Amino acid sequence: MRLLLVEDDADQRQLLSELLTDFELTAAGSVAEAEPWLPKVDLVLSDWKLGDGDGLMLLRKIQRLPNAPAFVMMTAYGTISHAVEAMRQGADDYLSKPFSRQELALTLEKVSRAQRLKHDNRKLSQALTDQNRLTDIIGGSPAMQRVQARLAKVGDTDATVLIEGESGTGKELAARALHRLSKRCDKAFVAVNCGAIPEQLAESELFGTDKGAFTGAAQARAGKFEAANGGTLFLDEIGELPLLLQSKLLRVLQEGKVTRLGEHHERQLDVRIIAATNKDLKAEVQAGRFREDLYYRLNVVPVLLPPLRERKDDIPALSRHFLGLYARRHGQAEPPLTHPLLAKLQSHHWPGNVRELANRMERLVLLGEDSPMAPLAGGNGDFAFSLPPGGLDWEAFERHCLEKALALNGGNRRQTARYLGLGYKALLYRLEKYDIE
Ligand SMILES: Nc1ncnc2c1ncn2[C@@H]1O[C@H](COP(=O)(O)OP(=O)(O)OP(=O)(O)O)[C@@H](O)[C@H]1O
Ligand SMILES: [Mg+2]
Repeated sequence: MRLLLVEDDADQRQLLSELLTDFELTAAGSVAEAEPWLPKVDLVLSDWKLGDGDGLMLLRKIQRLPNAPAFVMMTAYGTISHAVEAMRQGADDYLSKPFSRQELALTLEKVSRAQRLKHDNRKLSQALTDQNRLTDIIGGSPAMQRVQARLAKVGDTDATVLIEGESGTGKELAARALHRLSKRCDKAFVAVNCGAIPEQLAESELFGTDKGAFTGAAQARAGKFEAANGGTLFLDEIGELPLLLQSKLLRVLQEGKVTRLGEHHERQLDVRIIAATNKDLKAEVQAGRFREDLYYRLNVVPVLLPPLRERKDDIPALSRHFLGLYARRHGQAEPPLTHPLLAKLQSHHWPGNVRELANRMERLVLLGEDSPMAPLAGGNGDFAFSLPPGGLDWEAFERHCLEKALALNGGNRRQTARYLGLGYKALLYRLEKYDIE
């Protein structure tokens, strides 16, 4: 503990200094001398009467500091009213002169302890704020408050969570938040897009392969489950998982063990599962496309992310967040969120949800103007370009088209697939092929 002693009488200052050996001590003789030290100490022991003022002046200065030190007032014999006044103004304790060495020690001990507690408290609540900020989920609307409360409640458990919500509502963000809130936060967070893995490869992707398990498996390889050991496995687009794999997944979840393809022994794992889907999984079960037992296994704690159009209260804060984010990222000035713009954003239907809003704000930062998504093209087969005579780099062209189409559709993959007239899986396959996020 760092202690600042303020006493204008040199003899008393000397005497007290000799008693205060348990502290890292600084001694001052006046308000002016003491002032620069106030932010640097944990505790101030001050005389009432000082040459250039009094102890109360110091107390008031202390109270303006962000991390205020504790304050103990020393008052002269027969001036109990000063002690009362000091306490009333917020001093932590007082000592009336003359006091014994023991009284001094006891008082300072008590105040130090309280100060340490206050300090620890501040650190804890700071850590909590940081943690909340870490998850970066914006949303003051009642619907999102409920989501946040549920995430906070189950974050630090190993419970399996099923996150449902339309595309772009923040399912992956929520999954990452759950991981960060857990004791597993310093271990791996492994995300698998169940819709993007070709069916023949899915098993080895998830569970791993032994060397030579199939043609092309030259090396033994750990699957995503093993990669997530100790941490969290995020099974994104779980509704896209083929039925055969659903039963294999169910077995792994039940037993907590995986067997690599081609291997005969099991590996015990400790993995927390978070799954997400933008399908109505219950309806998929009823339609016979999703195993009911797996559904119940995954749906231990359901989290439903509401579509953006149902929480329009969040649009201003989200817009501001993304404008700031993209302005920083692209080194541009942050465009103002004007009333007419906000009114337009509030009345939009947001089929692509938060992702669509994020993309629109990024375009606003880059182009300086608000440009809503273009309407989907009609399939009239009339292309505005002709093939170059010298040849065409097909792959580069396809990648370009995919990226453009994605951007045009606010990053919404389902909508992009529809826009391109492709099946959803066909699109995912191409995105994977070109490594497009
Ligand atoms: N509440 C929010 N606060 C801040 N950013 C958000 C919020 N919700 C979503 N985002 C951002 O919007 C984008 C889309 O979110 P995310 O990828 O989590 O959606 P998703 O539900 O997984 O979508 P999809 O089903 O298409 O995969 C991300 O950049 C994410 O950071
Ligand atoms: Mg996602």
